[in-house]
Amino acid sequence: MIYHIPWINMPVRAVLGIWHQLSKKEIPELAKCSVLMRERSKVEETIYSMQQAGAGSLQVISDFDMTLTRFAYNGKRMPTTHNILDNRLLINEACAKRMRELMNTYYPIEIDTNRSAEEKLPLMVEWWTKVHKLLIQQKIRKDMLGMAVKESNAMLRDGYKQFFDRLSENQVPLLIFSAGVGDVLEEVIRQNHVFHPNVHVISNYMDFDHTGVLRSFQGQLIHTFNKREGALSQAAGLRQLKGRSNVLLLGDSLGDLTMADGVSEPKNILTIGFLNDQVEERKESYINSFDIVLVNDETLDVPNSILRYITSSRNK
Ligand code: TMP
Ligand code: MG
Repeated sequence: MIYHIPWINMPVRAVLGIWHQLSKKEIPELAKCSVLMRERSKVEETIYSMQQAGAGSLQVISDFDMTLTRFAYNGKRMPTTHNILDNRLLINEACAKRMRELMNTYYPIEIDTNRSAEEKLPLMVEWWTKVHKLLIQQKIRKDMLGMAVKESNAMLRDGYKQFFDRLSENQVPLLIFSAGVGDVLEEVIRQNHVFHPNVHVISNYMDFDHTGVLRSFQGQLIHTFNKREGALSQAAGLRQLKGRSNVLLLGDSLGDLTMADGVSEPKNILTIGFLNDQVEERKESYINSFDIVLVNDETLDVPNSILRYITSSRNK
């Protein structure tokens, strides 16, 4: 006969050293060689505890560009939401050229491991401000955005449908927190048929005049290194997230780690980082910062397998 003593359950599992069972049995995706972890047992303990609390205690906070979308396909870089706007329906050649020059100047700074976030911050403001100014000058038409997304190569990561559908079916809120362009982001998820009611987007939204022409960007600028401010002022106010103290956070930039700073009284926060670029240079800092690091993984297989486990029935 097996006696279930709930309070002894966790310590006994730990004391007996049978952690790693999750990687071996329940979530074999965690054993893939592209999955790196600083402390595997802590990750397993957190996932186990999130599963015990159930889907009702969970919220997912995710970055968008290069986290929910693919970084590359067949060796070719995929566009970010800003890059999707590089379409002659929306902007002219000179503007596209200038945006690419800015990208070549500032993107290496964004991912530079030798500079601190404080050092990068004003430079990111500079990049975003210059780009938004250029876009406003182009008098972009709202009704052309859908066509630009259709004509782009933008791709959500493999397994996206399962990811979005599972969260929707389990009524788990998905907060997408993006320094990209909100209107484009929404169009990408809408065209992929996954813009479910549980999805909430915090991003840079365009402001159009009464004729549907871009005239400014709404609200405070969000860039890669000020997500904390948005998390505290905007995400924290979302009614749907109240009482959900377990957080699965997905990102591809170290700046994404602050996206959960608005969560009140968090119990467990599990962070997953996609390491897409400059892998060798950034591996160490990613392992030290994210709980799970996915190296050159263009799929959502690992988040999906964790979500499958967390949303499965309790007390197995
Ligand atoms: P994210 O927060 O959804 O990842 O979006 C931010 C990304 O957008 C960031 O990694 C840099 C990228 N970006 C461009 O690709 N082009 C641009 O012009 C700007 C301003 C940002
Ligand atoms: Mg990103």
